[in-house]
Amino acid sequence: MQAATEAPVSLKQAFKDDFYVGAALNGRQVSGNDAKALNLIQEQFNTISPENLLKWESVHPQPDVYNFEPADNYVTLGEQEDMFIVGHTLVWHNQTPKWVFEDEQGKPVSKEVLLKRMEDHINTVAGRYKGKIDSWDVVNEALNDDGTLRQSKWLQIIGEEYLQKAFEFARQADPEAELYYNDYNLWKPEKRAGAVRLVRSLQEKGIKVDGVGMQGHYGLESPSLEDIEASIKAFSDLGVKVSFSEVDIDVLPNPSGRAGADIDATFDFDEKYNVYTTGLPDSVQQQLTARYAELFDLFKKHSDKIDRVTFWGVTDNDSWLNNWPIKGRTSYPMLFDREYQPKPAYEAVLKAAAK
Ligand code: XIL
Repeated sequence: MQAATEAPVSLKQAFKDDFYVGAALNGRQVSGNDAKALNLIQEQFNTISPENLLKWESVHPQPDVYNFEPADNYVTLGEQEDMFIVGHTLVWHNQTPKWVFEDEQGKPVSKEVLLKRMEDHINTVAGRYKGKIDSWDVVNEALNDDGTLRQSKWLQIIGEEYLQKAFEFARQADPEAELYYNDYNLWKPEKRAGAVRLVRSLQEKGIKVDGVGMQGHYGLESPSLEDIEASIKAFSDLGVKVSFSEVDIDVLPNPSGRAGADIDATFDFDEKYNVYTTGLPDSVQQQLTARYAELFDLFKKHSDKIDRVTFWGVTDNDSWLNNWPIKGRTSYPMLFDREYQPKPAYEAVLKAAAK
């Protein structure tokens, strides 16, 4: 135990009166193969998310095959550490096998068949972890950046009703779990408006949505704090919780000036976009630190509205941004470096907590 006057030694301690602080975990961390990362996770975080292992293709790769072992280990770890355990994700257009939407001849299935598959999947997966997984990302990325509904197979085959059904099935499977809508680029005014419409229309149908997850895959300069703040307020005004579910800050240049996190928007490898292979220059390190500081100042300011802030990874080494939007990059988006050491940004975040 440390005395109350000493500086906090962990993120979870620093923000204990504000919001949960967490990280997305991969298979090597969950299995204990990455022991150093596991140490950091136990020390720093009080909530965890599964980076990939509860996505449809991982947990339910074939019609009659469920692969629960990694997810079971993930949940067990969270229970042992008394953490707030997140499930990600039940209904998404990505990392969902083709068979879900097709019959044996490869033709699109009917609305009834797809709804039944969705229900079975949600019942089986959310049902298995009933009372253990505290919060589900029920639907992920249903919106286009202009705020209209994404033309996913879910929408094409079932129609808009798929959104309501996903939440109904999840509520049935685990009445106690928090149910979230999760997406990227929710700071964009048009997409923010789309998410507000989406949640409102569910609420009007009597569906209880517990929260909106803003993914938070950000750059050094964009988005503006004003846009992020406007979204925190807009979602909070709906009477739901707000979480930052997948935070990272990309310091590398990219061909499109892309924003967001469309995992299909990739580019061929090109050295000119992989500019810091031998280390991050001090000037960029300082920019990253300042960016994390201003972001957490904002989170702190709205801690009454924010329930959880989760990083999408633990160290720079395991971030998905080493491989997206371009494979084989050396990226620096997290608070811990490739040696598992805290970066200046970590100290800056702790300082934001103390303000
Ligand atoms: C990413 C994972 O981090 C990668 O390992 C995987 O290859 C692709 O998906 N939005 C989401 C997350 O909701 O599930 C994505 O995770 C990142 C973007």
